[in-house]
Amino acid sequence: MKKDSNGKRVKNLVNTLYNVISELSIKSQEQFHDLVNVVLKALREKDLYTQEHSVRVVDYAIKIGEAMGLDKEQLRELELAAVLHDIGKIGIPDRILKKPGRLTKEEYATMQEHSKRGEEMLKGIKDLDIYKKYVRSHHERYDGYGYPDGLKGEEIPLISRIIFVADTFDAMTSDRPYRKGMSTDIAVDEIIRCSGTQFDPNVVNAFISIIQKEEKERQEKQSA
Ligand SMILES: [Fe+2]
Repeated sequence: MKKDSNGKRVKNLVNTLYNVISELSIKSQEQFHDLVNVVLKALREKDLYTQEHSVRVVDYAIKIGEAMGLDKEQLRELELAAVLHDIGKIGIPDRILKKPGRLTKEEYATMQEHSKRGEEMLKGIKDLDIYKKYVRSHHERYDGYGYPDGLKGEEIPLISRIIFVADTFDAMTSDRPYRKGMSTDIAVDEIIRCSGTQFDPNVVNAFISIIQKEEKERQEKQSA
């Protein structure tokens, strides 16, 4: 019973989301932030972790984008793309999305569909047209072994390459009910290890510069 009413709530929110985004021009700052909030609310209804994860991914992605010298417009695109990146998870069954443990091969394949489902959800919304490819490609690997299209290097939009690093770092460092998150140091080492294979080396370098800067600031604060 509870499951049905929750499903309905999610459906209503998704409908609201469709209505809001189909009517607005995202050039307006206020509408842009309203849109971001609606997306985050929809994600929260589906899965609190996905929503909190998306907020953190936005934060890391923007910092990486700034370190890479992206302009204001690109940063705004990056922000919304990072908010939207996992929106396709709304279409993934709870038994898989919230499974407290390792996914089977079939379940993992279903989970991987979220990037294409996300693209599908944005179809037909003119103002969000460019975001379709960002969402679709956020699990593409720099070496061409990612999904869904096996794009390689700069074939992958820069915004998706940035989101991929931010997304992976957050997934590695966050606690889940079935496992504790990695320490920042171990996760950073893993990101460096995968530079040039999984990740764009330029994005990794920007990411490392942020982590080092934050660590330095933390140490300065401690010794003050
Ligand atoms: Fe994802």
